[in-house]
Amino acid sequence: MCTAADGPPHAVADPVELEALLDEPLPEDGSDLTGLLDHLAQDVLPLGIRFDHPRCFAFVPTTGNYPAVLADLLSTAHLSVPGAWLVGSGPTRVELTALNWLKELLGLPGHWGGLFVSGGSVANLTALAAARDHHLGGDLTGARLYCSTQAHPSIARAVHLLGLGRDQLIALDPDAGQRLDPRGLAARIDADLAAGLRPFAVVATVGTTSTGAVDPVTDLARLCRRYGLWLHVDGAHGAAFALSDRGHALRDALGRADSLTFDPHKWLFQPYETGCVLVRDPELLRATFRMSRHHLDTGYLHPAEARHDEVNLDDLGPQQSRGLRALKVWLSLKTFGAAAFRRAVDHGLHLSDHAAARITAHPDLDLASSPGLGILTFRCRPPGSPADPPAVDRLQQSVSDAVRATGQALLLTTRVHGRTVLRMCTINPATTTADIDAVLELVVRTGREAEQKPR
Ligand SMILES: Cc1ncc(COP(=O)(O)O)c(C=O)c1O
Repeated sequence: MCTAADGPPHAVADPVELEALLDEPLPEDGSDLTGLLDHLAQDVLPLGIRFDHPRCFAFVPTTGNYPAVLADLLSTAHLSVPGAWLVGSGPTRVELTALNWLKELLGLPGHWGGLFVSGGSVANLTALAAARDHHLGGDLTGARLYCSTQAHPSIARAVHLLGLGRDQLIALDPDAGQRLDPRGLAARIDADLAAGLRPFAVVATVGTTSTGAVDPVTDLARLCRRYGLWLHVDGAHGAAFALSDRGHALRDALGRADSLTFDPHKWLFQPYETGCVLVRDPELLRATFRMSRHHLDTGYLHPAEARHDEVNLDDLGPQQSRGLRALKVWLSLKTFGAAAFRRAVDHGLHLSDHAAARITAHPDLDLASSPGLGILTFRCRPPGSPADPPAVDRLQQSVSDAVRATGQALLLTTRVHGRTVLRMCTINPATTTADIDAVLELVVRTGREAEQKPR
């Protein structure tokens, strides 16, 4: 059997070559399906990042898992739609059960509710739409929403889609640990209130994409309560930390928020698109998204209205026809059991601790940010390398490019306090400490080679 580890973690094609391969006239007549599947599997789909490769440390990798792949196949074959109860009562019940399991895994109270969405971006949009409607009604004048500059860009995109201007999102500089500082935030909110503006929401990130930093959710929840603001936690990557023993305190903190983004297609090892939004008061999702709240009523949906204790999940989010994403989570949790997922999250934490210890001990490597939720950043500083910041920054980029060119590993760069650093996200359960050691040695070797090249 061919596994991800047999090939390189990354393959990219030249756009012109790929156009020549794939830009064909509309096929008026059909062709042999087996041949087409071979063509896709050999020539097309491998072009990209192998996120399940044990030496892929880029972005937030996922592994997928076999039961989840079968779940996708099954729900697609059955055209399952957990939209209205009438349309898909079985699929809806599966989704409600999977949501209950996610709440239990994250330590959220039972009365929270929500739904599966495509991923973190749509989860953030969905939660912030409810926050906007609940706090602002239809009047967006002077509204202000706060996050740190380390929040995911999907927050800014959500703000735009929700009809708020750029100046209505206040992105504050983080503290030295890249966290949103509650004192700085309170000062800014006070100033905005004094200026007659209307603060309505704060976004805390649990596991920033760049460094895995965790905003102080409990303090921010207290602050939001004091000012009467909505607290949204973007835990797309990091909420999974709550599964581990080390993350136990996070379970209590998450429950203090008003809404939470969680992406099982990140640290819960699911295939794309498996995102999830959960809110303290699901009625607030219904208030925003319920189809009957909106003005067009052609009558055709009346037969599908929920009766008694039936649930129409399409009333809680932006999609009407929606796939049964939840089945991936349901079938993989049933197949492997929650304990396997907890162990897998712990393994990722162990790997990033191991990497940090190796980096700290190596004379050529400097830790730039300590391992936060399976993500760490560092610099390569070979002996005799220049100290001026632009040259150090360029070296990190060269090392990342050179490592990628070997086809043995993929680690990309990010910026920490304005400086370029190498970044690793170590959450793949198939990655071993030997993989980490080998990749760090490769970084050291390519760093020394890059340094010996004439400048
Ligand atoms: C913290 C955070 N929020 C949101 C997102 C966006 O998630 P998605 O790519 O699933 O839309 C990401 C993606 O990496 C993320 O790390």
